[in-house]
This record gives sequence, structure tokens and C-alpha cells, in this order.
Amino acid sequence: MIVGVPKESFPGERRVAMVPAVIPSLTKAGLELVIEAGAGADSGFPDAEYAAKGAKLVADRAAVFAAADIVAQVLCYGSNDKTGKADLPLYKKGQILIGFLRPLGDVTTVEDIARAGVTSFSIELMPRTTRAQSMDALSSMATLCGYKAVLISADLLPRMLPMLTTAAGTITPARVLVIGAGVAGLQAIATSRRLGAVTSAYDVRPAAKEQVESLGGRFVELPIEAKDAQDARGYARAQDESFYQKQRELLGRAIAESEVVITAAVVPGRKSPVLVTKEMVAKMAPGSVIVDLAAERGGNCELTQPGEKIVVNGVTIVGWFNLASSVPYHASQLYARNISSFLTHLVKEGKVQLNLEDEITRETLVTRDGEIVHSRVREFFKLPALAPVK
Ligand SMILES: NC(=O)c1ccc[n+]([C@@H]2O[C@H](COP(=O)([O-])OP(=O)(O)OC[C@H]3O[C@@H](n4cnc5c(N)ncnc54)[C@H](O)[C@@H]3O)[C@@H](O)[C@H]2O)c1
Repeated sequence: MIVGVPKESFPGERRVAMVPAVIPSLTKAGLELVIEAGAGADSGFPDAEYAAKGAKLVADRAAVFAAADIVAQVLCYGSNDKTGKADLPLYKKGQILIGFLRPLGDVTTVEDIARAGVTSFSIELMPRTTRAQSMDALSSMATLCGYKAVLISADLLPRMLPMLTTAAGTITPARVLVIGAGVAGLQAIATSRRLGAVTSAYDVRPAAKEQVESLGGRFVELPIEAKDAQDARGYARAQDESFYQKQRELLGRAIAESEVVITAAVVPGRKSPVLVTKEMVAKMAPGSVIVDLAAERGGNCELTQPGEKIVVNGVTIVGWFNLASSVPYHASQLYARNISSFLTHLVKEGKVQLNLEDEITRETLVTRDGEIVHSRVREFFKLPALAPVK
């Protein structure tokens, strides 16, 4: 079986879906690699390193799709709404596509992929189970986003993060507040602590308290309780507007006392809850920084301009997307390992096993034989249920 890896085509994307070090484990599993020339150039993996591990380099993107039984990408058509559509004519019937597909984004792109006859797997639908942990690319990328959010804040802040005692006096440490202590938020807490900032965090899930404290953060306790804060998959459940209203009132003080606020509170498949209002921003000291990691889903801060950095009343608000791509070497390394684990799970004795009894395969499979086959994706787009496969 041939795994094809095209160069990422989303403007500014620097990651690549496969790195040379991971190739030997795939070769051992009977897979051959065809890589588009220059695919790893922006992430620090030259063509020669792929060739040295036995991959075949081809100059032309179309040739990668033509040769591949399985195409592995980071941003496939679906999650790449700028240039992804150009891949559509390159797909072959029966070909397997693996990557970020944004399956709950635009139904027409998912339908296009289905109509092309491609068997597609969406890496963002990976179940959050111990068995699937090595394939969980969302967590890998979130880790990098949390880390980078702190570095961006430190860079934009007109102060240092750590406490420092010098002959010229003492510098007090910056106060960093992280809202949403999931994978990205926890990494932000860890990074902020390493840089010496006084770090606190808040999350609706009660289980987050212990995780925050184990990283040396202070958990901000609010006297409100979310109803069924966590679903069976470990994700936060959406709350009603009165809950968010109360939450904003109570969080106001913690926000006003912080020089850096990193927001990473998302609810899967929904617009992000607004937790930082413009009134709260107005109470922050000039020079403060907000990095809104939920910007792509509308943002946790009312003033966030998705994709932009703005300054309001002296407070810098960053709503940049895709921070993982700004750490492309390690983002690609982690992603390639996630993809490689998934490939070795899927391919047994040189053949792709579409075993729908298997949770990992069933939960990530989005299209097959011309249809959208994922029940949750069908429900989300209000498509009629499919007859069970005999
Ligand atoms: N394989 C596994 O078992 C596995 C893999 C990844 C993550 N997880 C766990 O799943 C949980 C969520 O992780 P994630 O980073 O993917 O989550 P996420 O990106 O979906 O959300 C980020 C965080 O925002 C929080 N949040 C949502 N609404 C909020 C609000 N109104 N106020 C404050 N916080 C709010 C969520 O509770 C979550 O912790 C974590 O406990 C994580 O450790 C488990």
C-alpha cells in the first residue's frame, strides 16, 4: 500500500503530515511512502531526509494523489477552505483520505468528498480513549497552542513574567489567568509557571481543579455550579445563557487583576461562550494582553477579531488561528506519530481493515462509497439516518 503525502496548500501552513523519523515504523507495517518534493521544507525536514528513510519523492502534487492508496494530510479539503477544493479533482474512487476534515463545518465540502468516492477519516473525531491516545492529533496540536499562547503574551506584554530581585529594585511577577483548563489551557499553565508568572486558572469541569493545582496553578473557585459540566467523552457541555452571565460577573475580578488572560474555553461543535466582555477588558490595566485560543469558533472575548491582533484601551487582544503551525517542527513530529499510529491500527497485513465494530475506525470514518456514513455528522446536518450495513 502506498501512502501519499502532499505539501500542505493552506496559505501560511507550515506543517507536514509525515516526518522522516516515523517512516521506518510504517515501512515495517508494509507501507510505502510517496512524498511531494518540498513537503517538509517549511517545518525543517528536507527532501533528502525523507529519501534517506526510503520514501519516494515526486515533484508533482497530482502524481502524489495518482500514486497513493492512502493520502495523509494535515488540513484536507474541508478544513482547508482556501485552496483545499483544488484537491477534489485529484481524488480517486476508493482512495483513503486521512487528516483534519472539519466534519461539522460545511456540509457541501463533506458531500463533495463523499461524491468523489473517497473513504475519508477525520482525525478530529478520534475517540478520547486510552487506546486512541497515541492517535489524538487534537490534543497534540492543543498542547502546542497552549505553549505558544504564553510566548505570544510574554512577547507582547510590556513587562517581564518572572519575579526578579535586582540592585535596581524588585520586579513583581506578572499575573496570568487561564480560562478553560483543557489540553491547551493546561499547557499554558505549565508554560506560564515555567516562565515564573503567578498563574491561576478556571474551568467549568470540577475535575480540572486537581489538574491545575498539580501544575502549580491556583484554581479560581466560583460559587456557581455547571449542570452536567462534562459529557461522557470528557468534553464540556454547553450551559444556558444565565449560567454564562453569572460566570462573567464572577470572573470579572480575576480578569481585572491579571496582566495576561489566555482563553481556551471551547464547547465542541458550538460557538465558543463569551466569557470576557468589553466591560471587563476596560477594567484591565493598559498594556495587558488577551490571547484568545477560541478565536476560530468566534472567541471567548467579546472584542476578539478572529485572525487579527487588535488594541482596545491599551489592551492587546490576539485572535490568531492555527498557532500549532507556528511551531511546525514539533507540530509535524507529533502529528506524524498520531497519523502513523492510526495507519498501523487501520492497515493489517497490507490491507485496510474497515472494521466498524472497532470504535476508533467507526468514530473517525466520515465518508464511504459515496455517502456520509458517520451518524453524528449526519445528525448534525439533519440528514436522514442510513439503513444499517448488513
Ligand atoms: N484520551 C483522553 O482520555 C483525552 C484526550 C484529550 C483530552 N482529554 C481530556 O478532555 C478534557 C477536555 O480537553 P480539551 O482540551 O480537548 O477540551 P476543549 O478544547 O474541548 O475545551 C477546553 C476547555 O474549556 C473548558 N470550558 C468549556 N466551557 C467553559 C466555560 N464556560 N468556562 C470555563 N471553561 C470552559 C472545557 O471544560 C475544557 O477543559 C480534559 O480533561 C482533557 O484532559 C482526554
